[in-house]
Amino acid sequence: MSKIKLAFIGCGGMAGAHLNGYLELKRKGIDIFDIVALVDPVEANTEKFAHRIAEVQEFPIPTIYKDPEKMLAEQKPHAADICTPHFLHHNHAIMCLEAGVHSIVEKPLGVTIKATKKMIQAAEDNNRILAVAEQVRRWLPARTVAWAVHNGMIGDPQMFFAHTVGGSKINPDETIRNRVMTWRQNKLTGGGGPIFDFGVHYIDLLIYIFGDIESVHAYSGKFGDLKYKDTEGNVVEPTVEDTCIASIKFKSGVVGTWNWSGIAPGKSLSYTVYYGSKGSIYSGGVYPNSPQLQLWDDTIKEPSELIHEFVTKVDKADLERFFPQEVYPEPEKVTGDHGVLLEVYDFLKAIIDNRPPELGGWDGLKAQAVPIAFFESAQSGQVVTIDDVMEERVEAYQQEINHKWRI
Ligand SMILES: NC(=O)c1ccc[n+]([C@@H]2O[C@H](COP(=O)([O-])OP(=O)(O)OC[C@H]3O[C@@H](n4cnc5c(N)ncnc54)[C@H](O)[C@@H]3O)[C@@H](O)[C@H]2O)c1
Repeated sequence: MSKIKLAFIGCGGMAGAHLNGYLELKRKGIDIFDIVALVDPVEANTEKFAHRIAEVQEFPIPTIYKDPEKMLAEQKPHAADICTPHFLHHNHAIMCLEAGVHSIVEKPLGVTIKATKKMIQAAEDNNRILAVAEQVRRWLPARTVAWAVHNGMIGDPQMFFAHTVGGSKINPDETIRNRVMTWRQNKLTGGGGPIFDFGVHYIDLLIYIFGDIESVHAYSGKFGDLKYKDTEGNVVEPTVEDTCIASIKFKSGVVGTWNWSGIAPGKSLSYTVYYGSKGSIYSGGVYPNSPQLQLWDDTIKEPSELIHEFVTKVDKADLERFFPQEVYPEPEKVTGDHGVLLEVYDFLKAIIDNRPPELGGWDGLKAQAVPIAFFESAQSGQVVTIDDVMEERVEAYQQEINHKWRI
């Protein structure tokens, strides 16, 4: 194949991070693609993208569209990078895949299980790649934690505990936010709130570390009274959760709890810890960005030592797969938001090498099934298995979303 002709569908916040990744690849001399089209109904967004692209890619100048169908018909790109609101993912991805266009779609892959399954079906029917844009497991500390656990450094994996509790400064007497409510705060357009939106990152990481999840039992709902404005200035209420308390059981027997709230005034909490039969790996923060290993006998490996051990001892083929030499000659120095660059590079290389991406449609489905199972469990009060959610035997929470978008 000559250069991959790439189109962006959705040029908002996260697409900007994808664009950083693509432009950085070009700056590194990896000139295997051209951005040929930009689609977004908001002109200011496509214009901003076009200016940024012009700094790195002189030719071709991407053509700007408001309508993805018109773009597909006129440009016939090889690949699309889809960063639209959740309720549009399946429309945009299916449209692309049916036009023979490989697609990378931001997480959560689809707004419901049904939506994602239709995307997967379209990819299979048209023999095209469907990749989920998931960067967290690609971070150097995350790769380190998974490697350490898989190599028995904490013994047999047994438990995990994660707390992500924010909202410390929310004044209970001033609950009307001077902000316009977006698609994110609406169940029908977002599919769920933060535990769905950012939760899929953490769940994908947990699956990477401990394997597939069997079942969950969760409370998910609203404690707070936060309200927003609509575009006319009327006060409107979000229809998504602000808190979720979940127990998770893995098929391997590992168990754990993940507690999140965005509405807890006072003390904030943010840490994650993984226990095995010999010790633990702890990190402050939502994700294990500073993993410290501590064994029962007081052996401690600080994050830099553990990361150095990973980079020097991991199988060389794996290291090359995680941090390709042509992009990152010194993996230990990889910092910042390189996860997105790696995810878009993996997508481009998958197209060129005619291989699956690291994270395809089924991976996206598996990760999103877990927060959806939290919502289903909260609604029914029952333990919910991931198989039941993936097979659509349990879908009461999702029914109104599927109905609204005729999925
Ligand atoms: N991986 C991450 O860390 C991360 C972070 C933030 C967002 N995201 C994901 O990225 C996706 C987009 O989120 P965002 O924060 O960029 O949202 P956003 O609202 O900033 O951007 C969405 C863009 O889509 C455009 N859009 C709306 N309808 C469209 C249509 N019919 N055709 C083309 N474009 C259309 C909007 O105009 C907007 O520019 C979501 O899936 C979100 O979960 C991922």
